[in-house]
Amino acid sequence: MSNHTVTVSNGTKVPRVAYGTGTAWFKSNANELDQKLINSVKDAIKAGFVHIDTAEMYNTEREVGEAIKQSGIKRDELFLTTKIYKSLQTLEDRFDEQLKDLQVDFVDLYLIHSPYVNSKKYHGPGGDIKEYWKRMEKLVSSGKTKSIGVSNFQIEHLKEILSIATIKPVVNQIEYHPYLLQEDLIKFCNDNDIKIEAYSPLTPLTDKKGGKVEAVVNELGEKYSKSPLQILLKWSTQKGAVAVTTSSKTDRLKESVNIADFELTNEELEKISDAGRGTTIRKYWADDISN
Ligand SMILES: NC(=O)c1ccc[n+]([C@@H]2O[C@H](COP(=O)([O-])OP(=O)(O)OC[C@H]3O[C@@H](n4cnc5c(N)ncnc54)[C@H](OP(=O)(O)O)[C@@H]3O)[C@@H](O)[C@H]2O)c1
Repeated sequence: MSNHTVTVSNGTKVPRVAYGTGTAWFKSNANELDQKLINSVKDAIKAGFVHIDTAEMYNTEREVGEAIKQSGIKRDELFLTTKIYKSLQTLEDRFDEQLKDLQVDFVDLYLIHSPYVNSKKYHGPGGDIKEYWKRMEKLVSSGKTKSIGVSNFQIEHLKEILSIATIKPVVNQIEYHPYLLQEDLIKFCNDNDIKIEAYSPLTPLTDKKGGKVEAVVNELGEKYSKSPLQILLKWSTQKGAVAVTTSSKTDRLKESVNIADFELTNEELEKISDAGRGTTIRKYWADDISN
């Protein structure tokens, strides 16, 4: 089941595998409801996902809200994450609209989607991330979010936030897979008790098919009678991360939440990392990070 958890710095338990509604589900038209996504979120909940990840940027919050309502899952059984970026200037008002779209009174986790507030490509809001963080902290006292965190932050951005924070970010949601090991950033987060949420964990199957990692993952899949997808999600979670994945296919959703009944050895975890070392794939925010 997906509801094995990681405990973050404020004591909250975050389910280890999340169903993401960005990437393949991203919508440029906010007005049309995507019925396929509503069905898929319901499917994911039925398969055992108890953690759903969305964002202002994805335009999928209304679908998530509808699916949660239709699924009948109790609010206290679900861990709900959303994010903000382009509307950071009007954070408090936008957050209320997001809650309305999600049809909930609170979210479990609210993230600043990116530190690149001046990104042209992503229509950044401008401004100062330290000030935005102070405003995020106030949302916790309002009770409208239980925890706050960040996404796509590098060490220098985390240092800025930590220099003024009274509430530390509980997570940093980053692109993390064997082809993007980011060992310095991971160490910095570990040292500061900031948990990693790993998005795009299946990159060795989606963007680097036939690569060195896939060969190792296939071999381990045979050993444990698990699919390559399950081995990669297990790698992420045993490295300490919450894995944020997605699929439109019921079988893959069921596989994704069925990873609690086996353990990779430390040598096997290292073998997967070693196979990815030396090749770098970064799919998101790459233009901003290299600037
Ligand atoms: N914070 C950020 O900036 C940020 C950025 C990117 C993503 N995210 C979050 O992370 C979530 C997941 O990101 P992701 O989609 O990149 O994650 P992923 O888990 O690496 O990839 C999911 C995709 O892999 C495909 N897939 C699964 N098994 C496969 C296989 N064996 N062979 C080939 N393809 C396979 C799925 O397609 P099928 O539908 O065919 O199964 C699905 O489209 C997003 O939805 C979003 O919530 C956050």
